[in-house]
Amino acid sequence: MVLKVIPFAHELLKQTVREGDIVIDATCGKGHDTLLLSQLVKEKGRVFAFDVQEDAIRQTNEQLKQYGVSNTTLILDSHEKINEYVPSDYLIGGAIFNLGYLPGSDKQTITQPESTVQAIQQIITRLKKHCLLVIVVYAGHPGGEEEKEAVLQFVQTLSQKEYAVLQYGFINQQNSPPFVLAIERIK
Ligand SMILES: C[S@@+](CC[C@H](N)C(=O)[O-])C[C@H]1O[C@@H](n2cnc3c(N)ncnc32)[C@H](O)[C@@H]1O
Repeated sequence: MVLKVIPFAHELLKQTVREGDIVIDATCGKGHDTLLLSQLVKEKGRVFAFDVQEDAIRQTNEQLKQYGVSNTTLILDSHEKINEYVPSDYLIGGAIFNLGYLPGSDKQTITQPESTVQAIQQIITRLKKHCLLVIVVYAGHPGGEEEKEAVLQFVQTLSQKEYAVLQYGFINQQNSPPFVLAIERIK
């Protein structure tokens, strides 16, 4: 069976994130991706999870409490400030962005082209070799198309000697279906 975009994004992380890794959830929202990452890195690892909305941090915190997770640092701030929060000597074992708005919210707060690209740029330079930054891109909401274009433009210019960039999505769906980008550090 062909995997839908979120299961595909999670599968990529399951294949590459290792116990003890330092990993990033750049848009924690309701905490589904944060929970997966915390389970993959286990007690020896650490997840740094960002969101700009208090409600998202609260929902993620509740989700993690339910599962007894204690290896996660929740950060109420924008993801392009990653270098302020994740010590510079840590290499990153995996990261995920789920772009767009918090499900169930008024959709007023959305990820933005400039800060998203800045954060992607910072994370990929700190990725461990053969580890991945996975991005789930949504373009169906106001502002989404501009962000999609900015992200695609940026990742398409990455050196093929240093990074392998994959795009995965369904090409016969209507209304701007989401798709996955995966950036692997190869050098
Ligand atoms: C699609 S949701 C994420 C869903 C989440 N991964 C989950 O598992 O539920 C996108 C999230 O990005 C957050 N966001 C928007 N701008 C951001 C920024 N500059 N830095 C970090 N998070 C941001 C929103 O507040 C929202 O919660």
